[in-house]
Amino acid sequence: MKILSVVGARPQFVKLAAIADAAAQQGDVEHVIVHTGQHYDAAMSDVFFADLRIPAPDVNLSVGSGSHGRQTGAMLAGMDEVLEEHRPDWTLVYGDTNSTLAGTLSAVKMHRRVAHLEAGLRSFNRRMPEEHNRVLTDHAADLLLAPTEVARTHLAAEGLAERTLVTGDVMTDVCLRVADSVRGTALRLPGGIDPAQPFAVATIHRADNTDDPDRLRAIIASLQALDIPLALLAHPRLVARAQDAGIPLEGGAVHVGDPLAYPDLINAVQCARAVVTDSGGLQKEAYLLGTPCSTVRTETEWVETLDNDWNQLVTDPATLADSVMRPTPTAERPPHYGDGKASQRSVTALIERA
Ligand code: UD1
Repeated sequence: MKILSVVGARPQFVKLAAIADAAAQQGDVEHVIVHTGQHYDAAMSDVFFADLRIPAPDVNLSVGSGSHGRQTGAMLAGMDEVLEEHRPDWTLVYGDTNSTLAGTLSAVKMHRRVAHLEAGLRSFNRRMPEEHNRVLTDHAADLLLAPTEVARTHLAAEGLAERTLVTGDVMTDVCLRVADSVRGTALRLPGGIDPAQPFAVATIHRADNTDDPDRLRAIIASLQALDIPLALLAHPRLVARAQDAGIPLEGGAVHVGDPLAYPDLINAVQCARAVVTDSGGLQKEAYLLGTPCSTVRTETEWVETLDNDWNQLVTDPATLADSVMRPTPTAERPPHYGDGKASQRSVTALIERA
């Protein structure tokens, strides 16, 4: 039984870590890893493989950056040969990036069966490239591994109920394991932040926030005006766009650092007073770790995080400070994201349907 995983971007490496572990525990599974090369910086890619002990990719398509069409097209062109050589029982695609869509399209065109991990998430925002990637992938794939009941409902509404299986969320498997292993170890925060005092952690990388200079300027100004220091873990897109627009990121409460390795990020989030982000994964990690989150977007795919005010959507940057400094909720966080065994369930589902 052969599974071929297609990954390329930072959040996919975390999900891959869980699946690679679960596949290794099943004696008779051959697991081939294809890295598209969408993320190529050491901090965006290599450290994830090292820290999460993921086997090195068997293939790297090295497509690099580019417009959506060029990047996705380069992956498609590279995948034909890979699928011809490996002829997997299942091609497994993860999440919602251009690598997900390219892996899916190439496999269905080669008549290879495709399973989509993290199926059924919807923002209902057609401006997001990730939304196109999710919808197209779900409709093309043969097996939809959904993380939550809400995701199942979305798939059923689109006529995809028969192909759906709710497994729980594989990022939860990794997050909970890593959080335990780093608890109490030294934090790696940008210089100027005292880890013994309250601090916030932020990541901003979505095109909607970075590519409009006025909006980006307003977001950075509100972060710089916070009453507690904030570690801004800057994605390359944020750094590039801020530089183009002449917006200094460092200043006031903001201390800029490089993206953190996954265990360091999890440690920072579990110790932080607050998280500010436009990332999907980080909203959920904040929820799992009991840190209040402010999400700089008009909607979220992880709607369960909004329960009991653990996560708030902030559309107007002027209201960001109030959201960040709100008291930590005392109400419970129901276990919407599974029991930490989603990866085992996912691999078992593939074996049973091989
Ligand atoms: C991608 C995903 C997004 C995910 C994010 C996680 C799509 C459409 N988007 O967005 O869903 O949340 O990854 O990080 O697939 N760059 C580098 N070095 C790198 C990678 C990127 O410098 O290793 C720069 C390049 O200038 C590139 C830009 O960042 O043009 C954007 O990278 P890209 O992979 O296209 O999209 P992300 O914004 O990272």
